Amino acid sequence: MTALVDLDAATAETLHAALGPESQVFPSLEALRRHLDGQFGEDTVVLGPTVDLGSALALAQTMRVSRPSLAVILVRRRVDTSVLTDALRAGVFEVVEERDLAGLTSSVRRARDLARQLRDTVSTSASSEKPSTRGKLVTVFSAKGGCGKTTLATNLAAALADRGRRQVCLVDLDLAFGDVAIALQLFPAHTIADAVPLADSLDASALASLLTPHSPGLVALVAPIEPGTAESIPATLVSTILDLLKQQFDFVVVDTPPAFDDHVLAAFDQSDMVALLATLDIPALKNLKLTLETLDLLNYPRERWRLVLNRADSKVGLAVNEVEKTLKAPIVAQIPSSRDVPASINRGVPIVLDDPKHPVTLAIKAFAENDIAAGSSTPGDDILSELRTDRRGLLRRKTKT
Ligand SMILES: Nc1ncnc2c1ncn2[C@@H]1O[C@H](COP(=O)(O)OP(=O)(O)OP(=O)(O)O)[C@@H](O)[C@H]1O
Ligand SMILES: [Mg+2]
Repeated sequence: MTALVDLDAATAETLHAALGPESQVFPSLEALRRHLDGQFGEDTVVLGPTVDLGSALALAQTMRVSRPSLAVILVRRRVDTSVLTDALRAGVFEVVEERDLAGLTSSVRRARDLARQLRDTVSTSASSEKPSTRGKLVTVFSAKGGCGKTTLATNLAAALADRGRRQVCLVDLDLAFGDVAIALQLFPAHTIADAVPLADSLDASALASLLTPHSPGLVALVAPIEPGTAESIPATLVSTILDLLKQQFDFVVVDTPPAFDDHVLAAFDQSDMVALLATLDIPALKNLKLTLETLDLLNYPRERWRLVLNRADSKVGLAVNEVEKTLKAPIVAQIPSSRDVPASINRGVPIVLDDPKHPVTLAIKAFAENDIAAGSSTPGDDILSELRTDRRGLLRRKTKT
């Protein structure tokens, strides 16, 4: 249900008519508060244009902490950047212009979809036979840019979700230039940056309110919109976020920037598997070899490595078995090159959902099922984790020289 507040009866009636019978009008914020106190079925609150901005934001801020799964949508006569910034800070789900009634109904629909997904996720984990079972975390990494990390991460997440068979969260840890939101054509109300002010009180339900739904079984925690925000997100917060997500989802798939930064190292520490990506060119393979040496140096167990070759059919004079010999590790998946891949990204639909029989889809699905879902999960080992932390100083010195 949607609770709607506007102090002007005619405006309330217009908004009520647009939202339909699943909405209920309240004449004041006080009346809304009394209603919400005893009512947990509401998933959305719409605050109309005559509700004073300060009081609306104060309500959103309170709800963000006490009822994080409740979406507060703000309707304003005019929407400018200052309203948007204040609304974002207060945890408002979306801001819509008064005359954009179609925008308001789709905003309410998005809020309800998210609330439904959150309920499903919570009830799936609550009804699970083994409540203590944790999901698996897979980090997709390559030290060279443009190898296809985002392509693999988005498609792997969709393949694992398998149209709702599993619950999967895709996290964009490319905090400066992440493009998961674009690749999946998402319109996120929140990004990972919104977790910063919640850091001290972050729990599963507060975190759930920052996720953006994509398709059945698949939600995303997207990267900040402003590239400069990355520095304000501590690596310890990334660890907390990933740990909470592992408790809620069957799989957490992490997309990364092409660098061993502290956020990526935090993801490695939490990873059950790391999909290491390269293409068939010497710079990419050299970087993969250096990555493997670094993971060895960090004592990262080899059984968690999953080497993947993207655009594996490129005729460039390098044979896969020679590459394996050089890397001293097997390549478990080969994804062919196809112009349908950039075309699917431009459409905002992962190719595994768009074209179930495509060779790229088949390669990624086989990888998801055989090497990730069926792959052995080795729970984190405290001693190894400590050793990795100790050796990071060494890694930093090594990268600088
Ligand atoms: N198998 C493939 N066939 C054809 N094009 C591909 C394939 N995989 C990726 N691409 C294209 O290569 C480009 C780079 O891919 P992507 O963005 O996934 O790489 P990335 O590693 O995430 O890059 P960055 O390091 O910048 O984050 C994209 O235009 C994508 O469509
Ligand atoms: Mg990328």
